[in-house]
Amino acid sequence: MSAILSVARDRGVVWAAPGRVNLIGEHTDYNDGYVLPFAIPQRCVVTATPLPQGRWIATSDSATDPVSFDATDLTPGEPAGWGAYVAGVVWALREAGYDVPGARLTISSDLPVGAGLSSSAALACAVLGALVDLGQIPLAPAHWPRLAQQVENAYVGMPCGIMDQSAVTLCREGHALFLDCRTLASSHVPLDLAGAGLTLLVVDTRAPHRLVSGEYAARRATCAAAAAELGVSALRDVGLAAVDRLGSEVMRRRVRHVVTENERVLECVRLLRAGGAAGIGPLLTASHESLRDDYEVTVPELDVAVAAALAAGAYGARMTGGGFGGCVLALVDTDRADEVGAAVTDAFATHGFAAPHVFPATPARGAT
Ligand code: ADP
Ligand code: GAL
Repeated sequence: MSAILSVARDRGVVWAAPGRVNLIGEHTDYNDGYVLPFAIPQRCVVTATPLPQGRWIATSDSATDPVSFDATDLTPGEPAGWGAYVAGVVWALREAGYDVPGARLTISSDLPVGAGLSSSAALACAVLGALVDLGQIPLAPAHWPRLAQQVENAYVGMPCGIMDQSAVTLCREGHALFLDCRTLASSHVPLDLAGAGLTLLVVDTRAPHRLVSGEYAARRATCAAAAAELGVSALRDVGLAAVDRLGSEVMRRRVRHVVTENERVLECVRLLRAGGAAGIGPLLTASHESLRDDYEVTVPELDVAVAAALAAGAYGARMTGGGFGGCVLALVDTDRADEVGAAVTDAFATHGFAAPHVFPATPARGAT
């Protein structure tokens, strides 16, 4: 049996990792807080076939230029662009002490790139799965999120939290992943939308990402400074009473978002476990308002999409992901989904925005 497996592996392995939508819990992961994402069916597929040791070549149908590098080229940030996600995985595995097999990586993806649906985490985790499998590296999926986060933080240079990599790896079909970003304890919360006659619509606003990584890093730094001022290791440890103890108005608003967002995640999990999916609508909308007014990470396209979805009868709607562009999520009755989608599209035309891409999001499984 093992001889058969190893012959098969010589011919190559295929790994797929999905994108994700975050149901609620935005900008809480790097504050040691709670998140509730789910994976979507759209995914990044990586085929890996063996190359001589120390040599990697990658092509992607979402990128014009192929990427090739060898073991001596592994310097954080290089190559610039999408190759850093691939080289970063090799680098992080080697930093962790593993022998990484040389490989030709052929990548294809039906995820929109840069739309806030975690195409980058899907790319890193699919490459990671493929190299781990090809090289028979003893690294269980439970450890992939931390390693893939290292790829982004230390190699690509994006100071993201651990939500996306966890969702992409660990999610289960029909469920959202309730993750405590401090302990990394997680559980799968049933998200039975069809049974309740509900649909979660994703509106990809196609708004150009503006100032994303700089503004993200600035939010993260403000949260760290606020935690230091309050004498805690992370904002997870404070309640609303702490807000008034902060000196700056900007800090007070940022902290209020993080504290109230963590409370909304816990309430959302409680409602879903009690079987009340329709009841989570107001939490989604409150999350958006907090991200717009206190955390200040929305853009007009996100706000218009949320307002139009709500006016057309959505139970709740919010931006999802890091913000500054990207996607909105709206909870709607399935038999009104087309109407809500059309209302958002009309509102975009009225505002002179490019037409959005609207599609239903079905909770899917993580990397396979
Ligand atoms: P997202 O929300 O989609 O993860 P990011 O801006 O964080 O947005 O990451 C997008 C980047 O990830 C792209 O600019 C590209 O470098 C890389 N990327 C994602 N998917 C692919 C892919 N299939 N092929 C090549 N590069 C990809
Ligand atoms: C994403 C980032 C996540 C999370 C999210 C906001 O872009 O990758 O780690 O912080 O923004 O909730």
